[in-house]
Amino acid sequence: MCGIVAYLGKKPAQPILIEGLKRLEYRGYDSAGVGLINPDKIGIKIIKSSGRISVLEGLLPEANPKEVLGIGHTRWATHGEPNTINAHPHLDYTGKIAVVHNGIIENYSTLKTWLISKGCKFASETDTEVIANLIGYLYSGQDGKKTPNGDQNKFEWAVQRALNELVGTYGLAIICTDFPDMLIGAKKGSPLILGLGENEFIIASDAAAIVEHTTQAIYLADNEMVTISSKGFHTKTIDNVEIRKELKQIEFSLDAIELNGFAHYMLKEICEQPKALNMCLGGRLDARDGRVVLGGISKYWREITRAKRIIINACGTAWHAGLVGEYLFEQLARINTETQYASEFRYRNPIIEDDTIVIAISQSGETADTLAAVEQAKERGATTLGIVNVVGSTIARTTDTGVYLRVGPEIGVASTKAFTAQVAVLAMLAIELGRRRHLSSDEAKFYIEELAKIPAKIEKILTKSEQIKKIAEATCDRENWLFLGRGFNYPVALEGALKLKEISYIHAEGLPAAEMKHGPIALITEGMPAVFIATMCSQYSKIIGNIEEVRARGGRTIVVASEGDENIKQYADFLITVPDAPEELQPMLTVVPLQILAYHAAVLRGHDVDKPRNLAKSVTVE
Ligand code: M6R
Repeated sequence: MCGIVAYLGKKPAQPILIEGLKRLEYRGYDSAGVGLINPDKIGIKIIKSSGRISVLEGLLPEANPKEVLGIGHTRWATHGEPNTINAHPHLDYTGKIAVVHNGIIENYSTLKTWLISKGCKFASETDTEVIANLIGYLYSGQDGKKTPNGDQNKFEWAVQRALNELVGTYGLAIICTDFPDMLIGAKKGSPLILGLGENEFIIASDAAAIVEHTTQAIYLADNEMVTISSKGFHTKTIDNVEIRKELKQIEFSLDAIELNGFAHYMLKEICEQPKALNMCLGGRLDARDGRVVLGGISKYWREITRAKRIIINACGTAWHAGLVGEYLFEQLARINTETQYASEFRYRNPIIEDDTIVIAISQSGETADTLAAVEQAKERGATTLGIVNVVGSTIARTTDTGVYLRVGPEIGVASTKAFTAQVAVLAMLAIELGRRRHLSSDEAKFYIEELAKIPAKIEKILTKSEQIKKIAEATCDRENWLFLGRGFNYPVALEGALKLKEISYIHAEGLPAAEMKHGPIALITEGMPAVFIATMCSQYSKIIGNIEEVRARGGRTIVVASEGDENIKQYADFLITVPDAPEELQPMLTVVPLQILAYHAAVLRGHDVDKPRNLAKSVTVE
């Protein structure tokens, strides 16, 4: 969602902030702004606008080499419409403090009323302006408390006092005109990373904005803050207790976040899937002994093996992967599994017993609902396991144990390679858990060998992009689509529909194919596209029956089928074949043509695939 970049160094801050904000564009935003300390005039220059960063760039003066301290932000509106006034940075009523903020302040209304009663003026409808004004008010000494204890500077002291009044979540970067060589960052529930370059510091909400400058970083934890000057930095809790933080290496290279000749990140990431899955599976499959080696969870196998129930929590695409996981755990490990929307689970009164494992799946590791579900599960005594892509993210750190996807940064808002890797990790977990419970060595070997073949099979599917584009050309003018699958391919139908919706804005519904007769069949009109996943599987003949039902009503069928299936041709207006695989592993293959179809449909309809309207890459607020 929103993005933060802040810089203190020797170079002009303005271009660095703009470059950093561009790196965060993928997260989704509707306005942007920068604030720079001007040492000559000793003031804060704020420039902001609604719309794209390119609009903001058009408003910027030439970079001033003396302006070496600044904060920048991309905003995804929560409180107040996406206009220039509500864009960040926000200045306090005295004009001395400027703030950029990710997250939501839940008690902003109470604080705002109180601050207004003290004479503070507000210009915007945002919760963030409350933070700026609260710091400004406490900094001004109007409340009668003028001096911090010991040698603590007044700016840091005012920030700490303000942070202790806030209820909600924040990632913050703050500057003050009286301290033209000081930048403060703070975090609670919204990520914040400090990059340590040579004679320069960059604070950002996402490593993608840092990696161009340095790979040395410090990840702040909740209720921690950092105070930076050109001479160095110190980290503290918001209660003013000094803390030592470990220096970490940002694992991905700049190359991983470049387009490298692809028209869009989504396309790049679709095409990267063979390589990404090889990275995900690499070193983890032992086909000789029929075992899966997942280093991160080695200490937790006792709890996992004796578990009687698994609850999977996730949102969106990760939830679809979770649903595949539910089928996998049931089939291969014979364990009761249910997949829940994290947003529902967090507010339910779930029954969690001693032997319940809660798995959280999240590409970003920052999704607010998924994180809250993990916290709820932990409070009730569950062992929690994260399946996460972003290393060091909040969910990765909050869960007891976990498995990283290892697929590199996913920039496209529409999740693709993360889905296939999430399913791959779930398959590995299910095989190893099955092996520890009842699966024979031969059965485990079989699935492991088949899993290892998946990347090469995806490579083959990718060669069909032009053929799939033609299908999109023939069908993408239709505004209503159905996606239908059964068994392991039912979650793929949901995922195919989500992909089409989010980037092409076509209304699409994903269903278990048999459910069609219970209502949705009424929607079928002449020429309506219905995408079927009808690969060789235990329910093959059943899905053929469902295809016939659609054709009988004039629907146009796009069928994803197994290579070599001659019979299926008579049922398909458009046919896409994929290599065969055991049905438990098919989702990693059958999803790929649907990703490609959605991509082409969106491009043909003239949409910006990587910046779909209203969407954010990582949903860090409820
Ligand atoms: O980062 P997460 O995996 O937790 O994100 C969950 C969903 O927000 C995400 O999968 C979303 O549905 C994608 N835009 C789908 O393409």
